[in-house]
Order: sequence, then C-alpha cells, then structure tokens
Amino acid sequence: MSAYFVTGTDTDAGKTLVTSGLLALARRRGLTTLGLKPVASGCEATPQGLRNADALALQAQSRPPLPYATLNPFAFAPAIAPHLAARRAGVTLTLDELVDQARPMLAEQRDLTLVEGAGGWRVPLNETDDLSALAVQLELPVLLVVGLRLGCISHARLTCDAIRADGLRLAGWVGNLVDPGLSFDAAADDALYRDNLATLAHHLPAPCLGVVPRLAAESPAAMATAAAHYLILPNDDPKQGAPGTSRRGGPTPGMASVAPREGFTAPPRRLVDGSAPSDGHMLSELTDGD
Ligand SMILES: Nc1ncnc2c1ncn2[C@@H]1O[C@H](COP(=O)(O)OP(=O)(O)OP(=O)(O)O)[C@@H](O)[C@H]1O
Ligand SMILES: [Mg+2]
Repeated sequence: MSAYFVTGTDTDAGKTLVTSGLLALARRRGLTTLGLKPVASGCEATPQGLRNADALALQAQSRPPLPYATLNPFAFAPAIAPHLAARRAGVTLTLDELVDQARPMLAEQRDLTLVEGAGGWRVPLNETDDLSALAVQLELPVLLVVGLRLGCISHARLTCDAIRADGLRLAGWVGNLVDPGLSFDAAADDALYRDNLATLAHHLPAPCLGVVPRLAAESPAAMATAAAHYLILPNDDPKQGAPGTSRRGGPTPGMASVAPREGFTAPPRRLVDGSAPSDGHMLSELTDGD
C-alpha cells in the first residue's frame, strides 16, 4: 500500500491528468486504487450536488468505486482560489476537518492512493494554513507534476525546496507538456527541450516517473489511459523504464521512459528528439552528449 500527495508547479500543470494516468496504470496492473480531491473549486451544480471535473476523473479511476462525497468532501462552485471560494460560500476550511475526512480514506489501504492538491504547493486553505499542511499532517510523500513551459525550472525547484522545508520527501516528478507553444516545444527546438528536461532531472532530487507529451483524447478516461503509457509508478524501479521500451543509451538511475508502451497507438506527435514514439527513447538519452 502506498499513498502520495500530488502537487504541481502551478494550476493547470497537469496534476489531474498525471494522477489519473498513474491510477489507470495501477488499475491495469490489477492494483486497488483511490484518487482524492479533498478541496475543489470550480464545481458544477448537478441534481446530485456540486461536482468537480477533477474529482470525477479521479473517482473514475478509483477501484473499488467510492461515493463522490468521500473523494471530494469540500466542493465549491466558483473557479477561484479554494479559500476564497469557500469564503464566498460562507465556509471556513479547517485543516482538522480535511485531515478527519482524509484519514479514513487512507485507512482503506488501497494499493495506490493519490491525493490531488489544488493549484501549487503554497495555495492557501484559510488565513493561517496552506493546503500543503494536509500533506504534512498525513505525512505523505509528494509527487510533483512539472508543467513544461518557460519558467518551469525555477517553479519546480522552488516547489521542491518548499516541500523539503515542510519536512516532506519528494518521491518523484513528472514532466507534462502543457505548453505546445514555441517557448518549450520539441518541434521548435529539440535541443532546447532536451536541455530543459535534463536540467530538471539534474536539479530535482527524485526519480522522473515519466514525461507526458501533448495528448488528444475524447474523454478524461481516455486521456488517463493515454497518459498512463508514458508513466511508471512511484514504486517501480526507475532504471527499468516503462515496459516495452528499448534502450539505446545506458541506464541512468532516476530516469523514466518518455516513450509509450508497446501496443499503444498514440495520436501523431513528436517526441523530444523529433523521432517516432515507437523508437523507445529514454529520458536518459536526453542527457547523452550534453
Ligand atoms: N499533456 C497534455 N496534453 C493535452 N492536454 C493536457 C495535457 N496536460 C494537461 N492538459 C489539459 O490541460 C488542462 C489542465 O490539466 P489538469 O486539469 O490536469 O491540470 P491541474 O494541474 O490538475 O489543474 P488544477 O490546478 O485546476 O487542478 C486540462 O484540460 C487537461 O486535459
Ligand atoms: Mg486538477
């Protein structure tokens, strides 16, 4: 049984995509899974109550299934910072309440439990606590999703420093290509892209669990399945890389594959080195010759 808190370098870094991808991968291996979104703003009113897209995506990857309210106990309508959304709803979020809701979920002892934060590491919960205090109280190791865009190296390093300053361990990181724009695009400048990933790998003191390219899929579940092909689980041996990938470079501890598994048909795209995904390129190769 293992549990992690998933944070990101920013909002929209890809926490939900990567969290659901990791859960999908665990499910495919026959493991029990649980994805929690303790606090969600940006919820839609439905006949069943407020519903948040992140929480629904994580619920869909949780096996055995659990009722929505157990996965997302605090839901607010406005898509604004959680403590402000709560305030508008006349609610003050307290750390104790969050911990009380989360502990029974962790006590389920699923093979893989992932707790998705909101925004970045220092997002406030109320006037005194940050949401990261939940991870501290629960003593969870942290997975960091790095939204690959210009500026992400500093964001990633600062987040890592803050995690360690809070006494927690960074257990792994995932690069997610949120920005298809020119500043951080394989098609624009392969060498720059490689160098950026190598710099992240150099500075982040944890294994890379994968690099997710731009994906296109019709549903959150399909996106999760697609992302899973680029990920390894935190407990996997990073030296092995993802199944079905070949290695041209030597093994580099702490690096994960950036190529999808065999049998996976991905939408047309370029890998970081511009080659076909089936070549089985490893992130370890990105540092070769640098
Ligand atoms: N690699 C990718 N390819 C295509 N779309 C992506 C990718 N990563 C993220 N997205 C899209 O970008 C949006 C933000 O991603 P996601 O919801 O995973 O971010 P987040 O960090 O969970 O954000 P939040 O802080 O709101 O929880 C989503 O619509 C998601 O589908
Ligand atoms: Mg999210």
